[in-house]
Amino acid sequence: MKLRSIELALPGAAEAAAFLADIWGMAPAQVVGNIHYLRGSGSFPYLVALEESGEPYVRSTTFVCTADRLEQLKLSVTEAGLPAAPVKSNDLGGGHGIIVELAEGELLRFLTDAAEVAPIEGADLPVKLTHVVFNSADAEATGHLVEDVLGFRVSDRTKGMVFVRCNDSHHSTAFARAGFVSLNHIAFEMEDMDAVMRGIGRLRDQDMAPAWGPGRHGPGANVFAYFIAPFGPVIEFSTAVNKVPDDYQAGAPEDWSWPENRIDQWGMSDKDFGGLRAAEEKFRHRRDWEAQPLNVLTEENH
Ligand SMILES: [Fe+2]
Repeated sequence: MKLRSIELALPGAAEAAAFLADIWGMAPAQVVGNIHYLRGSGSFPYLVALEESGEPYVRSTTFVCTADRLEQLKLSVTEAGLPAAPVKSNDLGGGHGIIVELAEGELLRFLTDAAEVAPIEGADLPVKLTHVVFNSADAEATGHLVEDVLGFRVSDRTKGMVFVRCNDSHHSTAFARAGFVSLNHIAFEMEDMDAVMRGIGRLRDQDMAPAWGPGRHGPGANVFAYFIAPFGPVIEFSTAVNKVPDDYQAGAPEDWSWPENRIDQWGMSDKDFGGLRAAEEKFRHRRDWEAQPLNVLTEENH
């Protein structure tokens, strides 16, 4: 299972795409109708889809998996009674699978048979998304839900977040104990720490300063720099998060406490709590599809 992409709808999709391509450092992939697709240097056909819309919202966050894993998901999602529907992706790379609405409205899409593309050169391109994080009213409950129903694993719990993995990377998603439900941030995985730093420089050329960072997180141990994108959401340059073994013992909040005046390993940067919070309010989840049976394969129709 791999995190692949996020699909957003928003006013000013073309301007947002131009920012991501010209300043953030992504490569334009394609424009199809009113949807702008942007890619990184890795093998996914796109990482971000931006669809023109009157209001900003999250259409979906997309994971790719094997056909077997998809069948397991259809069964467990059906048994859990979560709203879901079969989907055939019209986005770049195609593929088919399901879209699921979690208890607090997060929309996760799981595809199989989605095509990949040849990687492209460019040390300053994001390679891929490293994680997409959501704000939750009850992050603890959502952590349990994705473990029980999606087969994800909670890697660590901190005072602020429940970190969740879907493969051996420490987290591909996390649920922030925010008290409200929305997109928290989208993190782009850069080639290395230098690429993160050069990204900060590129934004500094546009008079944009990090809302938080540079720093190094506790859980995942990634180097980070968060910015508030001109088109609304919080976006992050990140190095890859740590890999963890199958039997990784999930840490508890008391295992991840910081000394006075520290909220990361370095302590060199201020955090714009108010600005980040306001940006996190911008993108909510919006389901624009009807729940339908998932055609679970049984002994009879297998
Ligand atoms: Fe992050």
